[in-house]
Amino acid sequence: MKPSDTNLLTDQFGRVVNYIRLSITDRCDFRCTYCMSENMQFLPRDEVLSLEECARLVKVFVSLGVSKVRITGGEPLVRKNALWLFDEIGKLNGLNELVVTTNGSQLAKQAMALKKAGVRRINISIDSLNADKFKQITRTGNLEQVLAGLEASIHAGFRGIKINTVLMRGINDDETANLVQFAIDKKIDISFIEEMPLGVVDHARESTFVSNADTLSLLQSKYSLLPSTETTGGPARYWRVTDTSTKIGFISPHSHNFCESCNRVRITCKGELYLCLGQEDKIDLMPLLREHPIDDAPLIAAILNSMAIKPKGHDFDLRRAEPSIVRFMSHTGG
Ligand code: 5AD
Ligand code: SF4
Repeated sequence: MKPSDTNLLTDQFGRVVNYIRLSITDRCDFRCTYCMSENMQFLPRDEVLSLEECARLVKVFVSLGVSKVRITGGEPLVRKNALWLFDEIGKLNGLNELVVTTNGSQLAKQAMALKKAGVRRINISIDSLNADKFKQITRTGNLEQVLAGLEASIHAGFRGIKINTVLMRGINDDETANLVQFAIDKKIDISFIEEMPLGVVDHARESTFVSNADTLSLLQSKYSLLPSTETTGGPARYWRVTDTSTKIGFISPHSHNFCESCNRVRITCKGELYLCLGQEDKIDLMPLLREHPIDDAPLIAAILNSMAIKPKGHDFDLRRAEPSIVRFMSHTGG
């Protein structure tokens, strides 16, 4: 397939979609309290895209002008043969950036292979540097294993490693500065993600919510921070820590002010194309993949048509009794 020099994915508000986030599994070896319930039911295998279907989808999106692909989950690296998919995507002409979001549990084994496949950057979720607290938050996670994965990634030569942290009041918010200092010491970046009302989980979101505005003021009292103009077209705002190589990101999905520059769509592991993280507008791509195993034309037509329903903005509200979106992050990907 030829790399396209024009992006065919432009929505009704003139926004160009050049970035897809694809969840390749809803399964995970962790059970983070803000993401899943302890006895999370996972999807039956045949309701999840095969890796071949994932590869085909990504290839089609890249042919339409997408230049950045993030593989997420669940935990993408626990999917059997996930590396095959990374290799396939890494070979695509026209793709500039292949990146992955992971909980880090498999990185000690896989970091080198991911680097070889052409993965450019890795985001690793770390919510605590205290082994007991880490276990309390992830329920089944092991901090030591994740830190070994981080070291393996540094060793494999990855440059853009970033820690993703969800702060929760009274649970891990006392570690904010420690986590930043850890990132500085490791010469990596860190982003704080405000908790989103996704899925039904058994923990009290409203009382543990920590706003990024509060996190920023706390960090400004300890570090000299310079606002950065960098943007990835999403809800993240970055600050540089003076005299270090570390950047701190603040991901505030509740704010609306990034929607106008939104450049992304999400694909769940069931093949649903979501046009906005905070809205229900979606198109089911799986039937098109399965009913037309050779001919990409119906798939391409559906993707092009989807641009007409990409919403202008989103609508999260933590104060609602029900999550505004009853969708799990592990299906949609972060
Ligand atoms: N709100 C905010 N972040 C979440 N993550 C998972 N579920 C939620 C949620 N409900 C985070 C993970 C990971 C990133 C991809 O998303 O911790 O770091
Ligand atoms: Fe797994 Fe990530 Fe969800 Fe934690 S937040 S349970 S690591 S998918």
